[in-house]
Amino acid sequence: MCAPKPTSRFIFSTLILLLLLGSFITITSSESSKANDDVDDMEGIEELMALDEEDELQEQPPPEGVHHDKPSEAEVLSKAQRIVLELNTDSTKRVIDENEYVLVLGYAPWCARSAELMPRFAEAANSLKDLGSSLLMAKLDAERYPKAATVLGIKGFPTLLLFVNGTSQPYSGGFSSEEIVIWTRKKTGVPVVRISTVAEAIEFIKQHLMFAVGLFQKFEGPDYDEFVEAATSDNEIQFVETSSTEVANVLSPDIKPTDRFVGLVKSEPEKYTTFEDTFKKEKILQFLDHNKFPLVTVLTELNSARVYSSPNKLQVYVFAEADDFKELLEHFQDVARKFRTEIMFVFVDIREDNLAKPFLTLFGLEESDKTLVTAFNYKRGSKYLLQSDLTPKNIEEFCLGLVQSTFSPYYKSQPIPENKDASIQIIVGKTFDDLVLRSPKNILLEVHTPWCMTCETTSKQIEKLAKHFKGLESLVFARIDASANEHPELQVDDYPTLLFYPAGNKSKPIKFSTKSSLKDLAVLINNHIKGSQDHTTKDEL
Ligand SMILES: *[C@@H]1O[C@H](CO)[C@@H](O)[C@H](O)[C@H]1NC(C)=O
Ligand SMILES: *[C@@H]1O[C@H](CO)[C@@H](O)[C@H](O)[C@H]1NC(C)=O
Repeated sequence: MCAPKPTSRFIFSTLILLLLLGSFITITSSESSKANDDVDDMEGIEELMALDEEDELQEQPPPEGVHHDKPSEAEVLSKAQRIVLELNTDSTKRVIDENEYVLVLGYAPWCARSAELMPRFAEAANSLKDLGSSLLMAKLDAERYPKAATVLGIKGFPTLLLFVNGTSQPYSGGFSSEEIVIWTRKKTGVPVVRISTVAEAIEFIKQHLMFAVGLFQKFEGPDYDEFVEAATSDNEIQFVETSSTEVANVLSPDIKPTDRFVGLVKSEPEKYTTFEDTFKKEKILQFLDHNKFPLVTVLTELNSARVYSSPNKLQVYVFAEADDFKELLEHFQDVARKFRTEIMFVFVDIREDNLAKPFLTLFGLEESDKTLVTAFNYKRGSKYLLQSDLTPKNIEEFCLGLVQSTFSPYYKSQPIPENKDASIQIIVGKTFDDLVLRSPKNILLEVHTPWCMTCETTSKQIEKLAKHFKGLESLVFARIDASANEHPELQVDDYPTLLFYPAGNKSKPIKFSTKSSLKDLAVLINNHIKGSQDHTTKDEL
């Protein structure tokens, strides 16, 4: 969608991460309302990310063998202008009502993302026409014709909607012209492309980097029906079918003699994967979901949304410079082969700040330029860091530990500070156990972050209180920067927070309101110290 104010990609990635890892990341209260607004806008984000992907696609030369005699952009556009119907207030309803399939692009002329999508939409219109599709492709200037836009349900730009006999469904495919073609054909009655000759197969391979192939003796029966249903509900992979073993072997070599076969073909190592489960739609879709990524996926803005939404929620991320990673790639592919069904392996170029920083910040390692191996378990909301040398053996043990849940999650910590003679003890992740939970004293802990607006006021109050209670041996004032330090027992999502840990009962800290006056706080502290003393005394009796 076209956002009136520009929003950086960094915020998108960070936001997605926050959502995924929400259960253990804490954000400031002033920011959380913003995050909530953004959550409402989540649909928009997915689309935007998909569009961002296309910026990249645009920059990359087309893969070899694709579009050998591609017409010039101008030719495509002028041809497309004749194919893509321009809707207006009068024609919209009629066009939607009178055609079985209409794919509508709602755009705004000023929106750059609309402008980017337009030529691809046009190119897709051409391809679909050449393929004999009965689909009508139309566009609507939603700003000029707001009423028509409302009738269609167009709320942002660009919006793609497919109308089938007047009923709309949102577009859920990719945003290159090829992806528009694949998705649209799937949803308009051609979920599978049939290939009958070796020549057609050779031509098809040239044009597709990834596809699912089905070999069936006859195009009928329950197994075949499930295959077609999978093809229809999948949103991005082109399906092909053939009844000829010879053709099937061109598409996916070395198929064992069989009466039916389904496989996935990709353009990277592990090029051919065979489906070995029962022929059920869900199983086929699951198989594709688990296998469509390479052994090690290179994270880009193009695929980040897909990587995060992969069904594989245990993901190992390697952060390195691209050249360094080249040397490590084979190791990782070997490990990835072993853990292929349990772990997704992702490489992130550490120099790509937009991609790498949001992750590295989670480890407090945003300034690092060394190769790092980390992992996320999105189901549990925990993160892991491999801290031993990056030998193949250590990496494999790390993965095994992740799979068996024996590897401990990572908690951020600053280095242990010098606290001697300080009136307020600085606590870090590493000292939280010793100085708070295992301390025999009452602790008043101020949890703050550098960016929180009202933290300073509270800090000043705590300093005054520390002065006031100076000399009271049983009470310690402490402070922790929650942006740089974490501990599983410290669950705070609002800053500043004041927590009182009574001596002898550290498992349930008592929250003091930061809005209390200095005097009220002093009274509270006194009462609780007394309470804990009474308690301790009672225990001792
Ligand atoms: C659309 O409506 C026509 C006429 O009623 C019908 O023949 C056709 O099957 C419908 N198409 C779909 C995809 O439902
Ligand atoms: C610990 O503190 C909690 C909350 O104040 C209280 O309910 C509980 O009884 C205390 N337990 C002990 C052993 O003092």
